[in-house]
Amino acid sequence: MNTIVTDSPEEAASFVAAGETAAFPTETVYGLGADAFNAEAVRRVFEAKGRPADNPLIAHVADIGEIDRVADCSSGVARRLAERFFPGPITLVLPKRPDVPLEVTAGLDTIGVRMPRHKAAQAFLRTCGGPVAAPSANRSGRPSPTTWQAVLEDLNGRIPCVLRGERPVVGLESTVVDCSTNPPRILRAGGVPLEALREAVPEIQGPRRDSAEAPRSPGLRHRHYAPRARVALVEQAPAPPPGSVAGYIGMDAPGKDGQRGSGQDWRLVERVATPEEYARRLFDFMRRCDAAGADVIYCQIVEPTGVGAAIMDRLRRAASATEATETTN
Ligand code: TXA
Ligand code: MG
Repeated sequence: MNTIVTDSPEEAASFVAAGETAAFPTETVYGLGADAFNAEAVRRVFEAKGRPADNPLIAHVADIGEIDRVADCSSGVARRLAERFFPGPITLVLPKRPDVPLEVTAGLDTIGVRMPRHKAAQAFLRTCGGPVAAPSANRSGRPSPTTWQAVLEDLNGRIPCVLRGERPVVGLESTVVDCSTNPPRILRAGGVPLEALREAVPEIQGPRRDSAEAPRSPGLRHRHYAPRARVALVEQAPAPPPGSVAGYIGMDAPGKDGQRGSGQDWRLVERVATPEEYARRLFDFMRRCDAAGADVIYCQIVEPTGVGAAIMDRLRRAASATEATETTN
């Protein structure tokens, strides 16, 4: 299959209208969209990604009025969250409408709904004219794509179209909030921090820590967000280790000469000034390290507050997926 790259939301939407898929930018990461009411098109999304069939997709809408077509958003909590945070980097898990194909929700009776804030995403969704089912536009298990080039890296030849747009300002995926339970609970930390959610809904619960219980969000069972390089979490910026191709991302400047006398310097460094910049650059940096053939990526840990909670969630998953055990340098 030939994959075209376009700047036209209308052209990308024409693929969705024809029952095909199209990747599109959002303020979090790129998504891979299909008409949510076309089961065959939705199956193509799973195929292109190599995504396990038990992992549900998020329905993306252009405006609040469209939510009603896929979900029941009438509960007080859901309405408050939608009014306060839509459009934005948040997904609300709501009771599903019966006519949404089961392929979208992997058989669940709930559905995740998100209304992106990104301009090109909005134009694309408006032109599609209905809810668009979309996961992140990466091969299953890889870090989510934050550039159109990263989409091509994973899906070139497997999807017909990539809509190119302004770079995602958040860089990590949306916060997923289960509004179908009482009290509501965060299933995945993301672009909207817990502290902000609590201002609107004080009773909201943070993500569960105990992995013994079957996660309510099926995606959290699967290997996720992992580069090929080993990921090691460090408290302090280390000196470059001798004899390996290593990357470092963090707020502090990394050491120069290794105390081990290596005389090496870092080749792959991403020094970030704020947690927001860390979030924005993390996945792209992981991909750059992979492209450079890095063996290991050292990631400096951050305070798990604000967007830091989502950063630490992704870092821990990436570190455990690559079986890193170091917690300091
Ligand atoms: O920011 C984002 O959310 C991006 C952009 C493209 O919108 N999308 C995204 O989709 O990250 P995906 O499929 O990669 O992750 C969606 C997460 C998965 O962990 C999935 O299991 C969970 O949301 N999810 C979706 N529907 C759900 C449901 N009905 N109940 C519980 N969890 C659900
Ligand atoms: Mg994903």
